[in-house]
Amino acid sequence: MQLGGVLISESRIADAVGKLADRVSRDYDLSRVVLVGVMDGAVCFLSDLMRAFGEPVDVTTVRMRRYDGTEGGEVTVSLLPPRDRIEGREVLIVEDIVDTGETCAVLSERLSELGAASIDVCALLDKPSRRTHDVKATYIGFEAPDVFVVGYGMDCDGVYRNLRDVCVLEGGESELN
Ligand code: IMP
Ligand code: MG
Repeated sequence: MQLGGVLISESRIADAVGKLADRVSRDYDLSRVVLVGVMDGAVCFLSDLMRAFGEPVDVTTVRMRRYDGTEGGEVTVSLLPPRDRIEGREVLIVEDIVDTGETCAVLSERLSELGAASIDVCALLDKPSRRTHDVKATYIGFEAPDVFVVGYGMDCDGVYRNLRDVCVLEGGESELN
């Protein structure tokens, strides 16, 4: 697939990240929060978001993957943090994009088993039209149309993660709410 146009520019992303950090700071006592970044897609978002907070915050990561790499495959978590990092904490899952919601739903279940006091999701992008799983996602940067996007951490077969803007692949549309 060919790279298409820019859907969200680097400067709009930076603006949204700052606003999300401000909202989270207002809503939470940051000393009780742990950010759980979902690798690999959230690598850029997590890195910018955590540095947008004006005070220290606990940060960790998990790795999520589909068992067989296809849409129907089972989602599994690897490298889950130990119980003492999660128990009694306000957990904020940091995701690049919430699509069907399955990744966040599966991860929320694991984190809840580890004794999280609360769980919410902070995602740069949301594709609500694709949702099949109920997910609490209070902190969303942008609502995206149902097109495949790459850049700012998001990939197509491992490529394009390093683009500064969020772009569509050829054939996609460039509309954004
Ligand atoms: P979900 O489990 O269907 O919500 O999908 C979650 C994961 O699929 C996201 O964390 C992304 O890593 C990946 N994903 C979903 N849509 C896109 C896209 O348009 N581009 C790149 N990755 C995507
Ligand atoms: Mg992801």
